[in-house]
Amino acid sequence: MSYSIAIDGPAGAGKSTIAKTIAKKLNFIYVDTGAMYRAMGLYFLRQGVTDESVMEERCKEAAITIKYKDGEQQVILNGENVNSLIRREEVGKMASVVAKLKAVRYQLVELQRELAETADVIMDGRDIGTYVLPDAQIKIYLTASSRVRANRRYLELREKGMPCDLDQIEADIIARDEQDMNREFAPLRQADDAILVDSSEMSKDDVVEKVISIYNNISKVGNTCGN
Ligand code: DC
Repeated sequence: MSYSIAIDGPAGAGKSTIAKTIAKKLNFIYVDTGAMYRAMGLYFLRQGVTDESVMEERCKEAAITIKYKDGEQQVILNGENVNSLIRREEVGKMASVVAKLKAVRYQLVELQRELAETADVIMDGRDIGTYVLPDAQIKIYLTASSRVRANRRYLELREKGMPCDLDQIEADIIARDEQDMNREFAPLRQADDAILVDSSEMSKDDVVEKVISIYNNISKVGNTCGN
């Protein structure tokens, strides 16, 4: 049976950085589910569709698949590798809109579950522990205060030489959280059996170490039970 680690949490909590590092250490496949919603968002941005009921009707037109190149996840949208196009802010905003729609979620969750059936995965998103992989062996809810998350993003953008405003970034992060936590279907929330990790005052290495020690403890208990 394949092994699954689910990491959920709000935008900017550091899920992908942590999950990527852990995937390398444990030799698991890293699955970034947000990238799939972003690819769907990109599809509708390009089509100029803004009506949500039209999006529900037409989401099947966007064939989204995943492949791996040098260990990095690549998102393929109707045959085109869109990895370099989906990080833009407007695509992120559209991703949050399409992520509310049931038809979109059904389509992408099917792909996510298939990936988890065929390999050991560490998968990050918003509903992995609560909905996509309810039987994941490990569930982590990774969060940090909105100010800390905004500040991390601010430093990233500054490093790239992009103009930005900390208060505006924090306001955007809070708005995104609101939308993801308050949608009707599969909202962002901590699963009952998830372990809460608040990284507000932790370094990346601290968080990685914490998750690895959770993995070691849980696998040890799992082995003992199995014997
Ligand atoms: O993690 P991210 O910023 O790349 O995610 C983009 C959007 O997709 C975000 O607003 C939340 C949504 N999303 C979701 O609803 N469920 C997931 N499993 C992953 C992302």
